[in-house]
Amino acid sequence: MSEFISKIRTIQWVDNCSRMVDQTVVPYEFKYVDITTGQQMFDAIKTMIVRGAPAIGIAGAHGVVLYAMELEKENLSRDEFIKKLLEKADYMATSRPTAVNLMWAVEKQKDIIKNSKSDIPGIIEELKQNGIKLENEDIEINKKIGDYGAEVVPKGASILTHCNAGALATVGYGTALGVVRSAFAKDKTIQVFADETRPRQQGARITTLELTMDGIPTTLITDGMCSYFMKKGMIDMVVVGADRIAANGDTANKIGTYTVAIAAKYHNIPFYIAAPLSTIDTSIKTGDEIVIEERSREEVTHINGKIICAPEVNVINPGFDVTPHELITGIITEKGILRPDYKTSIKEAFEK
Ligand code: MRU
Repeated sequence: MSEFISKIRTIQWVDNCSRMVDQTVVPYEFKYVDITTGQQMFDAIKTMIVRGAPAIGIAGAHGVVLYAMELEKENLSRDEFIKKLLEKADYMATSRPTAVNLMWAVEKQKDIIKNSKSDIPGIIEELKQNGIKLENEDIEINKKIGDYGAEVVPKGASILTHCNAGALATVGYGTALGVVRSAFAKDKTIQVFADETRPRQQGARITTLELTMDGIPTTLITDGMCSYFMKKGMIDMVVVGADRIAANGDTANKIGTYTVAIAAKYHNIPFYIAAPLSTIDTSIKTGDEIVIEERSREEVTHINGKIICAPEVNVINPGFDVTPHELITGIITEKGILRPDYKTSIKEAFEK
């Protein structure tokens, strides 16, 4: 890994606050912001200062600590503190609806709040330590995903990815880009095609920055171009991340992923999801139950503050789509690569 990427921790608990890379300004600027209150964290998640399913999970966990530190100043009884903190945690989990890692990490913090035998300062310390543990585990998990995934990358492969499932979507290393990183460590002849990912350009702004900083050959294409390059035989496999995976393997990821999966199926190109088990929501049977975030019309009507369409035009802006499980070749997790039938392989992965 390059000096730059290996040093990145996208989000980290330091000096009693949550320090994160401000992803709204990448790649024009690379700066860290310190989030010091629960409400600031809610807004940072909603406005996508921090983004990517695993990263917003950690952000949610930190957000609960920040709320706990604020409530400590209110001189509440221990019972009142716990009641109010659980309410704040539930609120934090509503900052974005699709990525289940957010709810997963907040639930982990809620378990501590409910089960701790400590006094208020003790509970806060336990929450902080748990946040730091989740951070460290995220990087370890991503490296395992990367190594399992690298085994299915053909020699000299051209890998297409959509959105950003990289170091900046996690605490570090990345999921889909973790696979790319691990594969590149073994084989310097691989290359990546990065979809720009309208409307927020995570592919163009973030994925190309991450990969070129790591010295991995990368070609930026617009979203509509993927089938053109597949037909020309220029794509050997697709690897993308995930925001929520249902018990049957149906997978929500950034809007446009479904189109890529259909094109890959048509051209007989393997289509992989790379995600930690914390992205799998076994409480839902199929992708139909996944709530899809609706985002603002301005994300579509404007680029860099400039309008690009007729001002009165109708706009619909879903942030994610769901790729049906039958289009997915495998789900690369920290427990290995899950294969169809996913109902069985997902169940077995949780039992491992
Ligand atoms: O809206 P975003 O930028 O948070 O969406 C990100 C994605 O869709 C990623 O592919 C997904 O969260 C996986 S990140 C490892």
